[in-house]
Amino acid sequence: MAGQFCTFGSFQCASWGTIGFKRRVAPIFGVKMELENQISEEKYAADISSIKEAETRIKPFIHKTPVLSSESLNTLSGKRLFFKSELFQKGGAFKIRGACNAVFSLDDAQAAKGVVTHSSGNHAAALALAANLRGIAAYIVIPKNAPKCKVENVMRYGGQVIWSEATMQSRESTAAKVLQETGAVLLHPYNDRRIISGQGTIALELLEQAPQVDTIIVPISGGGLISGMALAAKSINPAIRVIAAEPTGANDAAQSKAAGKRIILPHTNTIADGLRAFLGDLTWPIVRDLVDDVITVDDKEIIEATKLCYEILKVAVEPSGAIGLAAVLSDSFKNNLAWKDCNHIGIVLSGGNIDLGVLWDSFKK
Ligand SMILES: Cc1ncc(COP(=O)(O)O)c(C=O)c1O
Repeated sequence: MAGQFCTFGSFQCASWGTIGFKRRVAPIFGVKMELENQISEEKYAADISSIKEAETRIKPFIHKTPVLSSESLNTLSGKRLFFKSELFQKGGAFKIRGACNAVFSLDDAQAAKGVVTHSSGNHAAALALAANLRGIAAYIVIPKNAPKCKVENVMRYGGQVIWSEATMQSRESTAAKVLQETGAVLLHPYNDRRIISGQGTIALELLEQAPQVDTIIVPISGGGLISGMALAAKSINPAIRVIAAEPTGANDAAQSKAAGKRIILPHTNTIADGLRAFLGDLTWPIVRDLVDDVITVDDKEIIEATKLCYEILKVAVEPSGAIGLAAVLSDSFKNNLAWKDCNHIGIVLSGGNIDLGVLWDSFKK
């Protein structure tokens, strides 16, 4: 049955207290290697404690999003799929989790000066909303080519829009000027401990709602979402597979994993406008060590998966949010040896903010 809400048993957690463990990392598409991982703050920007703290901090301000299932999509994929539906989150994307965690971590003196970021997408709107909830100013530097609906969201939530050119250089220099003038706190969209910890709370919820999940597929861009989720999920269950889904036209994570070092691409080209950023120096070590593999899919596959979400799940997802389903249905996933071991798959439907005209045009192609 399409669009069914799942009700699952209570959270089964091995041990919240245990944060270090020895694990074997066996990348699905890459070279096998043994790694001794201590999932601790000393090694990574966040850990299970900071994620649990974030959970408590943001709980009053966010939705616990539902996990949807569809027998039709189970049949199509040959797996049992659990859609963690963050498109129903406040602001229409998971980003409010990190933004709220960061904004509500500030002391009163810091908060009084407001917050600033440069973003063309969901982080911008989420930060405006989080700042609004705390009653402080949000200065949002937005490039002129940002999607219309995402700019409207920023304005709807009371963010002060400052326009920049589309280049990263212009975004950064405009944000630096705002910082200097206001003394506000800069909150990066993903390369920040507070943001990573907030996004990690999705994994805590998902594993409570669907404890049978053995694999989690997460969209990747700057890597804040998957870093938080991998830290949380693997601290609870080291055997869980965490797989990134990335557009072929912005595949810096796949290239970085293959090269063993962070790669920045000269340009990107994908319909998934939320997935065009590059890994940061805080997210890369987590992706390098804890993400088991990266599946890349082209825009045609992403659009097809977006359509399936509308037609079968009945949810208004944006292409960046539908990429996890595209990955599950892709040939590269099906042809891989590890495929047979992935039976209960959690997929993060990460957001639902899209200009309908753009979506409609993509469906017609
Ligand atoms: C809808 C959506 N999904 C996924 C992502 C990727 O998140 P991250 O940059 O933390 O990897 C973004 C980032 O903007 C997004 O907007």
